[in-house]
Amino acid sequence: MAELEQRRILKTEIPGPRSIELMARKSGAVARGVGTTMPVFAVGAGGGVVVDVDGNSLIDFGSGIAVTTIGNSAPRVVAAVRDQVQLFTHTCFMITPYEGYVAVCEQLARLTPGDHEKRSALFNSGAEAVENAVKIARAYTKKQAVVAFDHAYHGRTNLAMALTAKSMPYKFGFGPFAGEVYRAPMSYPFRDGLSGEAAAARAIDVLDKQVGVDNLACIAIEPILGEGGFVVPAPGFLPALAAWAAEQGVVFIADEIQSGFCRTGDWFACDHEDVVPDLVTTAKGIAGGLPLAGVTGRAELMDSVHVGGLGGTYGGNPVACAAALGSISEMETHDLAARAREIGAAMHSRLTALQERHAVIGDLRGRGAMMAIELCAPGTTDPDPVRTAAVSAYCHQQGVVTLTCGTWGNVFRFLPPLSIPDSLLEEAFDVVAEAFAATA
Ligand SMILES: Cc1ncc(COP(=O)(O)O)c(C=O)c1O
Repeated sequence: MAELEQRRILKTEIPGPRSIELMARKSGAVARGVGTTMPVFAVGAGGGVVVDVDGNSLIDFGSGIAVTTIGNSAPRVVAAVRDQVQLFTHTCFMITPYEGYVAVCEQLARLTPGDHEKRSALFNSGAEAVENAVKIARAYTKKQAVVAFDHAYHGRTNLAMALTAKSMPYKFGFGPFAGEVYRAPMSYPFRDGLSGEAAAARAIDVLDKQVGVDNLACIAIEPILGEGGFVVPAPGFLPALAAWAAEQGVVFIADEIQSGFCRTGDWFACDHEDVVPDLVTTAKGIAGGLPLAGVTGRAELMDSVHVGGLGGTYGGNPVACAAALGSISEMETHDLAARAREIGAAMHSRLTALQERHAVIGDLRGRGAMMAIELCAPGTTDPDPVRTAAVSAYCHQQGVVTLTCGTWGNVFRFLPPLSIPDSLLEEAFDVVAEAFAATA
């Protein structure tokens, strides 16, 4: 496909007539439960834009939920995928293996936090990686209890739903959920005002007294909450939890599915505080849009599982592995972690200016190109999901793809692809500023 013009172009109202037609077809064929943020059908995407069936070119502030970090159809990924599909599309790694899978695991060992010996296993989706991390932790510790945190999101399979905090829409009506899952309080500086150490002590007390270390296989935590609202825990919270887990022989699982692979301005969000997890789950940004996920961890832990205990028909598909190798090479060649920091600085300054003008913006937080604002009644922490939805709807109508999140639906999150040109980033923030002014 020819390179897409890096401009916002509105040829029709959003959604345009062809998207409206396709939405009608969608209702007749696709299950209602599969919702869409914007009723707009894509035909192309790249750099910082998504082009729709009506010829509109929208600015992408979502990256397909933090997936196309390196940009959509990045040339290196396209070339790697094309080469691989011509050779073979699948053999099943559990039947006749191939080098791409091994190479991705080698890269994961090199890039994830810590220089200890590591092993990895590959899967298709984030939820599957999380499920497998828990399986591995249980097999290694021979214990069963699993702790997740308030506001957590770990996916939509049964165990992942159990680990996820929010009921509607993720869990509502889908129980019963997997057993032996417990919840601990997360550090949420805007809401709890606690230092990292105090928030960790509060969480550890729950682990110790309500769950019981003797039962506890692992704690699973997003080092920056994703769907839960881009909450960055207070400094010291993650290191204190990780240190406690190490002392107690509890497996510390960092779910870096949304925060990993350069998104936060480093390879992984754990890197910012030198936290070295026992297991790391990855997906999303790893493969430039192809479905791939991984669990990477200490060799003795990963290798504690019996032969044949991990796997799946498609896990580590050769095309997805080729895409991941292309993505990683793109990230390194262009130092995309540095680009994420640059984008983060630009977003921070635009959002600070916005916060000064609009008291509804209670909190501004995030790292690198993973940034958010939380909307509350001025001067309080009372969530304002109505204003959040209004601002978001305005952005959509003006051709900016924006996403919301948070337990109360009152967080506006910014996840641009790192390939977005500065001019588009600025233009998108002009639209966000207009949206705040227009909905005041
Ligand atoms: C932190 C985190 N864990 C797990 C998942 C689940 O990933 P998937 O949708 O690929 O199953 C997500 C997806 O948003 C996520 O953000």
